Amino acid sequence: MPSPRAAIILAAGQGTRMQSRLPKVLHKVGGRALLDWAIAAAAALDCARTIVVSSPAAPEVGAHGEQRLGAGAVALQHEAKGTGHAVLAAKAALDGFDGDVVILYGDTPLIRPQTVEAMFAMRAAQGGLVVLGFEAADPTGYGRLVMGDDDSLLRIVEHRDADAAERAIGLCNSGVFVAERATLFNLLSMVRNDNAKGEYYLTDIVALGRSAGIKTHVVVGAESEMLGVNARSELAEAEAAFQARARAAALDAGVTMLAPETVYFSFDTNIGADAVIEPNVFFGPGVSIGSGAHIKAFSHLEGCAIGEACAIGPFARLRPGAKLERKVKIGNFVEIKNATFGEGAQASHLTYVGDADIGARANLGAGTITCNYDGFDKHRTVIGEGAFIGSDTALVAPVRVGAGAYTGSGSVITKDVAPDALSVARGRQRDIDGWAKAFRARKLAEREKKS
Ligand code: UD1
Ligand code: MG
Repeated sequence: MPSPRAAIILAAGQGTRMQSRLPKVLHKVGGRALLDWAIAAAAALDCARTIVVSSPAAPEVGAHGEQRLGAGAVALQHEAKGTGHAVLAAKAALDGFDGDVVILYGDTPLIRPQTVEAMFAMRAAQGGLVVLGFEAADPTGYGRLVMGDDDSLLRIVEHRDADAAERAIGLCNSGVFVAERATLFNLLSMVRNDNAKGEYYLTDIVALGRSAGIKTHVVVGAESEMLGVNARSELAEAEAAFQARARAAALDAGVTMLAPETVYFSFDTNIGADAVIEPNVFFGPGVSIGSGAHIKAFSHLEGCAIGEACAIGPFARLRPGAKLERKVKIGNFVEIKNATFGEGAQASHLTYVGDADIGARANLGAGTITCNYDGFDKHRTVIGEGAFIGSDTALVAPVRVGAGAYTGSGSVITKDVAPDALSVARGRQRDIDGWAKAFRARKLAEREKKS
């Protein structure tokens, strides 16, 4: 039986360099809060308990953590006295937990669960503590991993406290640790703050452990996973790294993209094989695309499910709650919100469909509008299978158009239409012979008189 696991996510730092009213860990990468990346990593690692350490100065972070993880999942660090002090803040919350603990940062979204999984495997094989290290292109500012000659760590020295020889070390501390719970808190209780920053360093548990006969082993990961977000520039860098990763994964999964560098993904975008994504498409959170679908240029999608072999765009907008069955066709300048389209239904041009159910094979003409909102409530429009909605029809909800019915172009439909009927709801055409000719003659005569 593998040991049960818990996670401690450190998120009590100040994040002042973000220049933001929003706490740093609630800024988003790939449409998901930085903190939620760490929470998702803990979940992917099967952590039975996850504790978020947050600051009383940023109550939104605690509220967010509780909302995601439930009551008791947030521990407050009242003063930011260092990473070791922050981990100790989670001690009471994990009282009685018997197993391994992983320490993650709330501002480091790109760490892959499989990288941390390798740390648990290392601990299972070797015992002791495990730290995640990386070779930094520029190690300035990072803690350095000082290796012993037995392949385990002697200590971690912070950049500020390091001498020239230690600063020449390229292998750095990511901050991610795996340790057995009781050992972790025993070692932390011995950490002191006699260092350059006057803080309680988590990293000191390495040397303290070694004196107590507990070795620390190192798993080396890619620097690209360790990017911590402290400023907007780093938020943009993390976003770019995430997008590169998501594009590569989609290509590997059999998605065709003509210009992948112009397609934007969210953390949960799910695209089937043989879909084709044209340039400049944006996927907000909650999008799934069936295989063989074609998403044409400049379309914006969020919170929607697109069936197999659908054709969307160019310039289409699919908003939350849009659900399209197979072979639906949505053309340019069509907006869909909270609406279902049955198989083969179409809205090819200039249409708004909100709060509606469109039957299979129904055809919405250019300029069809559902009038779904009366300023207070939203109302539903239901269009039957195979119905044909004439161009420039306004459907004043709540309203139903029966299967196979037609509406005349330019109609304002306010009452239900029976199946297979034609409903025309507009002024009748009246032609006055010669009117235009007489009008022009009168106007030209007036102009002549004036000049
Ligand atoms: C830390 C490590 C350093 C490592 C680097 C990697 C220590 C002493 N140093 O340094 O070895 O190379 O991360 O990025 O551990 N936090 C709290 N409460 C605190 C202090 C920090 O919750 O009192 C949280 C922060 O919000 C952040 C994380 O801990 O998520 C790391 O803190 P930070 O101040 O960035 O540590 P570094 O000095 O960068
Ligand atoms: Mg840092």
